Amino acid sequence: MNKPETQTASDFKPETWGAFINGEFVAAASGKTFPTFNPGNGEVCGHLAECDEEDVDRAVRAALAAFPAWKKKTGAARAKVLMKLAQLVEAHGAKLAELESINAGKPIRDSKAIDAVTAIDALEYFAGMATKIQGDTIPVPGPYINMTLREPLGVIGGIIPWNYPLLQAIWKIAPAIAAGNTVVLKPAEQACLSVMYIGKLCQEAGVPAGVVNIVPGFGNVAGLALVQHHMVAKIMFTGSTVTGKRIAAEAAATLKPVGLELGGKSAVIVFEDAPIDQAASVAAMSIFSNQGQVCTAGSRLFLHEKVHDKVLEKVIEAAKKVRLGYQMDPGTTMGPLISARQKERVVGYINSGKKDAKIVYGGEEPSGLGKGHFVGPAIFDQVQNSMTIAREEIFGPVLSVLTFKEEGEALALANDCTFGLAASVITRDVGRAMRCVQAFEAGNIWVNTWGAVSSMAPYGGYKQSGYGREMGFAVMREVTQEKNVWVSVR
Ligand code: NAI
Ligand code: MG
Repeated sequence: MNKPETQTASDFKPETWGAFINGEFVAAASGKTFPTFNPGNGEVCGHLAECDEEDVDRAVRAALAAFPAWKKKTGAARAKVLMKLAQLVEAHGAKLAELESINAGKPIRDSKAIDAVTAIDALEYFAGMATKIQGDTIPVPGPYINMTLREPLGVIGGIIPWNYPLLQAIWKIAPAIAAGNTVVLKPAEQACLSVMYIGKLCQEAGVPAGVVNIVPGFGNVAGLALVQHHMVAKIMFTGSTVTGKRIAAEAAATLKPVGLELGGKSAVIVFEDAPIDQAASVAAMSIFSNQGQVCTAGSRLFLHEKVHDKVLEKVIEAAKKVRLGYQMDPGTTMGPLISARQKERVVGYINSGKKDAKIVYGGEEPSGLGKGHFVGPAIFDQVQNSMTIAREEIFGPVLSVLTFKEEGEALALANDCTFGLAASVITRDVGRAMRCVQAFEAGNIWVNTWGAVSSMAPYGGYKQSGYGREMGFAVMREVTQEKNVWVSVR
């Protein structure tokens, strides 16, 4: 770990944002606001309207009022609006990256290279989708033509976490509005500045009033109100498994369908024939990216006993190269965790790991980093799959290393997990790689890599990592409903 950067103060001016309802930024009905923080120095970086049931109701009614006209527009007309929004996100990319880093703690070089760029790609991709929503014709017996229509649902409620606020916002908004739905989005209370800025860009792009609404506020108030609202047709949620379960239970009262993208405890399996450097770099990237606050983080690394020492040594080398520091410093590769609470959680897991397993790197409190919520890479060896650090989602740069002798053993351990979000295998043996692909109980599999995601490829979980899919044609089915039509030819 390098010496802490000296610059921890920010010249960023705190921003004030109302809720984005019916095309305008407005104060909460209660007049309340809440502060949001820069996790790199603990300073307030914004004040947001604190939405409650009344504000959510206003937003939902605005979205419902906007729905008929938006639904009626041609796909091409909706595509134009999305393309305009994509152009604006591109033009404002530097500002969005700054907001993302200031508020979510991401290293600025990642916000610029990954988040802002991926958001544009998603908007362009889903703009294309607006003209490709179509049904089937079915050759039923009898004197009939049978066909299906794919129709939008109405108002979709999006609830997103703080680890990728900008991307999550776009991944919820773009497919939904491409299909002719309208949206009420509840960003995470910890990080919503970039999401509010998207509201401003929606205004500029000519997104009709009410088609996109953004209600900042707390989960158990604004989030819950959205889930309970009887005029919301569907909830698309990304976040923790605990909250996902709560939302599914709550949504049952109005029989609302829910899409859930939840947590993970993903395995990376390295076989004895794996190229050592590639294996180590995939493993390190999978747990240190975004401070380990990634739902698909490769938090369980299974090393074949023959390559265990060599791979682990290189992963430790990679950990030593991590530059933990203030996120706005261009040299920083690992920023702060999102909050004091998250730091406390992660440190709690590190302490539990120290009792159960062998810590081989990190695990101390970083010094000289001021009031930011910094936790450096921590690596545990001799982990058993039954230990807490191998079972629970930590959401920090904490790696559990497990050793195996045989393929079947590695797969059984990898699958012995309540989650099923992702898994990776590193090997040069094609047959073995494909056996793993078949055996993994997870929705996203990577062979000889980790973390690749595209607007074009379906993304989602098995088991307690959720249900429903984002991206690709798959999400277009999630944001539409199917109507079956019988036409007599007599
Ligand atoms: P969370 O899952 O509770 O929050 C995600 C979103 O849900 C936020 O917008 C929040 O306001 C909202 N929310 C919370 N309670 C709600 C409710 N009852 N009804 C409707 N919406 C609600 O995650 P939180 O509390 O920020 O973090 C707790 C832990 O969850 C983290 O330490 C991390 O381990 C895990 N997590 C996992 C994520 C993932 O993508 N796998 C994302 C965020 C957190
Ligand atoms: Mg929570």
